[in-house]
Amino acid sequence: MDKKLIFRTMIQDDADAVAELEAKSFVMPWSREDFWREAKNELATYIVGELDGKIVAYAGAWVSFNQAEVMSVAVEPEYRGQGIGTILFGKLVKAVKLRGATAITLEVRPSNTAAIKLYKSFGLRSVGRRKGYYLDNGEDALIMWNTKL
Ligand SMILES: CC(C)(COP(=O)(O)OP(=O)(O)OC[C@H]1O[C@@H](n2cnc3c(N)ncnc32)[C@H](O)[C@@H]1OP(=O)(O)O)[C@@H](O)C(=O)NCCC(=O)NCCS
Repeated sequence: MDKKLIFRTMIQDDADAVAELEAKSFVMPWSREDFWREAKNELATYIVGELDGKIVAYAGAWVSFNQAEVMSVAVEPEYRGQGIGTILFGKLVKAVKLRGATAITLEVRPSNTAAIKLYKSFGLRSVGRRKGYYLDNGEDALIMWNTKL
């Protein structure tokens, strides 16, 4: 990739761009106000990826005591499958570890092959299911953990 890709902490001014990317990525997207709030939430760690100054990826987690709970991970559709999600998630893991997390957890749709592959590459393993977790289609959620970050 010739373009310049950088990663940095999300700020409140990013809320519009992140909400736009969220809307392209999820059936039940968060709003710009949600991200505006997240940017100043002290428990939250959010990272954005910028390609030539345009936000093309973001990921966020909440850290409470030694546990990080991933809230969201997304890459702009046209840039998926090029390794950006892997770099992004690596940055998120590094950031939550710096805040004291020694374990990380998240929920994911069993049908989301790309995301599951990504999380497994960071040592997360499926430990159970939440029945009918996703309200749009009643799909279960896989609960994944890595307890040895
Ligand atoms: C999940 C997501 C963030 C991955 O980002 P990405 O930039 O495409 O990820 P990468 O290119 O780094 O690929 C990560 C792994 O997934 C695999 N992968 C990527 N796209 C894939 C696809 N369409 N089908 C199957 N595997 C895929 C890659 O091969 C790679 O695995 P590997 O390292 O074994 O080769 C991205 O697909 C996305 O934004 N999806 C929509 C939002 C979403 O579902 N987020 C997760 C919610 S829990």
